[in-house]
Amino acid sequence: MFAVRGARHRHEEGSLTDGALFLAGYKKVKRDEKEHLVGQVFKSVAPSYDVMNDLMSGGMHRLWKDRLVEKLRPAAGIRHLDVAGGTGDVAFRVLRAIRAAEATRGPSTATRPGSVVIADINPAMLLEGRKRAASQGIDAYDLEWVETSAETLPFPDESMDSYTVSFGIRNVTDRAAALREAHRVLKPGGRFLCLEFSKVVVPGLQQLYDLYSFTVIPQIGRIVAGDADSYQYLVESIRMFPDQESWAQQIEAAGFRGVEYENLTGGIVAIHSGFKLPRADAGVSRAAPGGVPPATPAPLTTAP
Ligand SMILES: C[S@@+](CC[C@H](N)C(=O)[O-])C[C@H]1O[C@@H](n2cnc3c(N)ncnc32)[C@H](O)[C@@H]1O
Repeated sequence: MFAVRGARHRHEEGSLTDGALFLAGYKKVKRDEKEHLVGQVFKSVAPSYDVMNDLMSGGMHRLWKDRLVEKLRPAAGIRHLDVAGGTGDVAFRVLRAIRAAEATRGPSTATRPGSVVIADINPAMLLEGRKRAASQGIDAYDLEWVETSAETLPFPDESMDSYTVSFGIRNVTDRAAALREAHRVLKPGGRFLCLEFSKVVVPGLQQLYDLYSFTVIPQIGRIVAGDADSYQYLVESIRMFPDQESWAQQIEAAGFRGVEYENLTGGIVAIHSGFKLPRADAGVSRAAPGGVPPATPAPLTTAP
């Protein structure tokens, strides 16, 4: 009843963006309406966002984010950008991993310590993040909090070693613009990683997941956050996000190479990965699943 996937899904995405209308959950709205709605949703959910994440996912979001950072394998001294970073869940993990890498590095190889930038459009989410950082004893000087849209990042070209976006990209109005910006700010060789809700691939799981999403989640939202509507939007926006393959193609269209994805929890979420290759290798295309980007130009391969 609620699932909107496959061909119909892709059709809606294309026709909507062409006509300057965007999906906000199941609604078709103009750009400024979507931005306003998303802004209101996250302003409303910000104070209870972290509790709600644990409740709604049964704590699974922590494992998914751990896997994201494990895939990234942050190295000592890197400059990392976490876009739509919200209350800092991913950024804190990346920062800890960088510091751990720096701690195991010998003193003779010491360079500048790595840093993490959290970019988010919503000041209420960033405020909650700053409070959390303080409560977790994370040094404020280790993190930069930047209020900005993913579509227009205020960072120089080729200034970041890596880029993550976790459960954020589906809320961005112009995803192609966000991908272009991701590609622009990454250094050659830099890595893009996206953790997002995706299409269930395990038979039988979809019905259970729909039932849970459309009945239980808005009720938890009503009881805990006093706001069922925002959680209804979040559930709808999950259903309207492109499936794994379509999203991989959009990442590739933005110029990333070695694009691949990993399904987690039966495809409830997926991690997409891509690299900005050095200019000389700009013709290289998709990697095999689980592989690294090919070192030499290769013909376009089909999806994993
Ligand atoms: C579901 S939260 C995810 C927060 C965090 N990344 C996490 O995984 O817990 C989505 C975040 O995307 C942010 N967001 C929505 N539209 C955005 C945009 N155009 N640019 C940057 N951030 C945006 C929201 O403000 C919100 O903080």
